[in-house]
Amino acid sequence: MQKNQHAPKGFHRLTIEERLDQIASMTELGQDEIQCLKKFGNLPEETANGMVENVIGVMGIPFGVATNLILDGKEMLVPMATEESSVIAAVCNASKQCRSSGGVTSSVSGSEMIAQIQLLGLSNPHYARQVLLEKKEKIRELCDAIDPLLLENGGGFRDLEVRILETRGGTMVILHLIVDTQDAMGANAVNSMAESLAPKIEEWTGGRVNLRILSNLADRRLARARAVWNLEDLGGEQVRDDMLAASWFAEADPYRAATHNKGIMNGVSAVALVTGNDTRALEAGAHAYASRSGQYTSLSRWETDEVGNLVGSLEMPMAVGLIGGATRVHPIAKIALKILGVNKAEDLARVMVAVGLVQNYAALKALATTGIQKGHMALHSKNIAMMAGATGNEVDLLAKRLVEIGKIRTDAAEEELRKIRNWKN
Ligand code: MEV
Repeated sequence: MQKNQHAPKGFHRLTIEERLDQIASMTELGQDEIQCLKKFGNLPEETANGMVENVIGVMGIPFGVATNLILDGKEMLVPMATEESSVIAAVCNASKQCRSSGGVTSSVSGSEMIAQIQLLGLSNPHYARQVLLEKKEKIRELCDAIDPLLLENGGGFRDLEVRILETRGGTMVILHLIVDTQDAMGANAVNSMAESLAPKIEEWTGGRVNLRILSNLADRRLARARAVWNLEDLGGEQVRDDMLAASWFAEADPYRAATHNKGIMNGVSAVALVTGNDTRALEAGAHAYASRSGQYTSLSRWETDEVGNLVGSLEMPMAVGLIGGATRVHPIAKIALKILGVNKAEDLARVMVAVGLVQNYAALKALATTGIQKGHMALHSKNIAMMAGATGNEVDLLAKRLVEIGKIRTDAAEEELRKIRNWKN
């Protein structure tokens, strides 16, 4: 509980130690909790403090490795960070079930990002549009001058789009800078270009620039995955047909599509997080892409091949990078990338879309057969065991016991833990 006090001015200038003292005085945190916050683990204190404002600690999230995935003919170990118990197991199981047909095949559309410049106050938007289109080569020159390193690495300005947008507040001219950001996610590169170009845009058109920011609808940076699940491996015709019916439900109904796509993002975001990528940018891009027809729908498609096997395909924006942001700063992100062994951002994008597809398969299969709770709760039973106070080997023992008696609840866990302890003594 907080004591309804305002944090002191200059809180951000305090050391971590001083901030913790402040927080302790403003809340009911005890010494044990303050000591817990002081354990920085594998993200060094100085690094954490340099990453965001007002740091008082770090939060550990389980980091696991999914096995069994074959991607483009290669065996993969996939690092994932997630708090959700069934996510990594789902990737392992679904990847195993498509190994006999060669695993997952992937492709990417490129590495172009879009920066938007919003131009207001123009009485002649159509005229201004043409003026801007004529300046393409000048705009290229100005944008490329902002980031010579990007240019050296094969990236840089690619194209210009100028849109006339009718809004509730009147007509606007929207300029899109299309920039190949190569191995960077690209937010910094394109935002810098848009910001430094803005005065020129005003000078050329007489309008007033308002926003200058990238679009997270990265539809020029798509990643694609496809795979075949043999009928026998997946459990026969009834299972396949029920999985197909589940996927058609998601295609047709936004209420279901939101959950279906959330399942895909369970995998995608877990790889994004552990590699230091921006999970929110990916989530925003995925859901916007899922709405591109005007109706929100599922990102994946499920069909059968000529002999009745289940085939799945997924296409979604995948704005990820290997340089910049937390990727180069967070020691765990560096380790995760080393485990993956990818050298190019597009290779990371391929892994992530593949994980999204197999994750979706696992969810559809569980939902169309036993339901999600059985596997989920079996894994969740360890959390419940720990919540009930189990430690060491008690955790596994108790978790197993809870599954056996079919009561994955803290009250049952506390009772069973008492029995285990009595029995041990
Ligand atoms: C749970 O995190 C994800 C699922 O709800 C996905 C889905 O329903 O497809 C199981």
